[in-house]
Amino acid sequence: MDRIRIVGGRPLVGSIAISGAKNATLPLMIASLLTDQTLVLDNVPRLADVGLLQRILGNHGVDVMVPGKRPGDTPDNGHTLHISAARIVDTTAPYELVSKMRASFWVIAPLLARMGEAKVSLPGGCAIGTRPVDLLIMALERLGAKIDIDGGYVVASAKGGLKGGEIRFPKVTVGGTHTAIMAAALANGSTLIENAAREPEIADVADCLNKMGAKISGAGTSRIAVEGVAKLSGARHSVLPDRIETGTYAMAVAMTGGDVLLEGARPELLQSALDVIAQSGSEVSATNQGIRVSRKNGGIMPVEVTTAPFPGFPTDLQAQLMALMTRAKGTSRITETIFENRFMHVQELARLGAHIHLDGETATIEGVGKLKGAPVMATDLRASVSLVIAALAAEGETMVNRVYHLDRGFERLEDKLSACGAAIERISG
Ligand code: EPU
Repeated sequence: MDRIRIVGGRPLVGSIAISGAKNATLPLMIASLLTDQTLVLDNVPRLADVGLLQRILGNHGVDVMVPGKRPGDTPDNGHTLHISAARIVDTTAPYELVSKMRASFWVIAPLLARMGEAKVSLPGGCAIGTRPVDLLIMALERLGAKIDIDGGYVVASAKGGLKGGEIRFPKVTVGGTHTAIMAAALANGSTLIENAAREPEIADVADCLNKMGAKISGAGTSRIAVEGVAKLSGARHSVLPDRIETGTYAMAVAMTGGDVLLEGARPELLQSALDVIAQSGSEVSATNQGIRVSRKNGGIMPVEVTTAPFPGFPTDLQAQLMALMTRAKGTSRITETIFENRFMHVQELARLGAHIHLDGETATIEGVGKLKGAPVMATDLRASVSLVIAALAAEGETMVNRVYHLDRGFERLEDKLSACGAAIERISG
């Protein structure tokens, strides 16, 4: 298994190209199941999760073609996928595949909408909490699906097709909203989704579905209306920039000091996080090429933050902010309200010398004068990258183990950081 070696203490200076968003790419790839025509996705990040989903979709009969490199292509362009679900050969998503990536459970919606049946393994627990799918099932039932749970599988059917209906989510859920939209797109009649997730990735997927001929309005607000259509067609869509990757590198710069342009980043996708970074003492400015983050003199100021659904501070940046706050001049408080167990990074940050006290869903972080390198490892993607941020400011060497978590969600992380002056390298094996 690969490891990443970091020697801390160098400021980051330069520019980093922001990749396409993982959490838009995955549902966009899944949306390809809704049509027998080809969906072309541009600006797709090269991530392990994308490769894994490609395999999962392959099991249903989906063909994914990646055209070769063309003149002018750079590693920063992202790549283009031509995805064709001309013929669906299997409506079962087995445990071996779904258990590797939770989002693959979402195939249930397009399979059911297009084929009238789907059998998808329950995803099971994961490192950041229990993450149930009851609300996704509720949404499908509201559209007329009959659902049974059998041997660890959700068995869904809709003889004669899904029917439009009203779905009110008691809690904001990104996966629930994606599922409801995809199912409603091919349902008979109109659907209203209330208390929908407002994450930018929802709007990006709805945008693509509308290019495919769907009739979705209100995506990006908490009230989404979908007028079902009989058939969807192919389309071409470019994935929006990754706001979590943007926020992660912004916090890395806030941590080390320096001056970096995050190329292609869009401030409106992460305003709440940018406000917190500014409050912590960094300068954040929007330019026509992206977002510039710098911290010259002065230290890191403590903050109090509570995670919340968009447009609030994202849970996917909670671990990274905690890493930053380990070096703040004072005491910070971070409260996690989305996932009940998303604090796996706390004990690893402590190995680098951080002082963090956990009380239920709130972490109190006493800033320390210095961190010291150590071997660390993390059990999920965002926790892993928080260790990288801490290591960039730690004295001496940090070895981050289990790098495959990072590869799931960060494209060429070590290249992007080392181009800005970080001492970071991948050690294979
Ligand atoms: N929930 C339920 N029942 C459900 C579904 C969700 O109780 O049926 C709860 C969850 O347990 C959680 C809350 O609702 O407490 C929100 O979960 P949500 O459904 O919004 O999360 P998700 O769709 O499974 C996506 C992202 C996550 C991100 C969350 C929250 C993708 C592929 N995943 O997950 O991203 O943290 O939304 O913003 O889009 C990551 O990228 O590292 C990651 C974990």
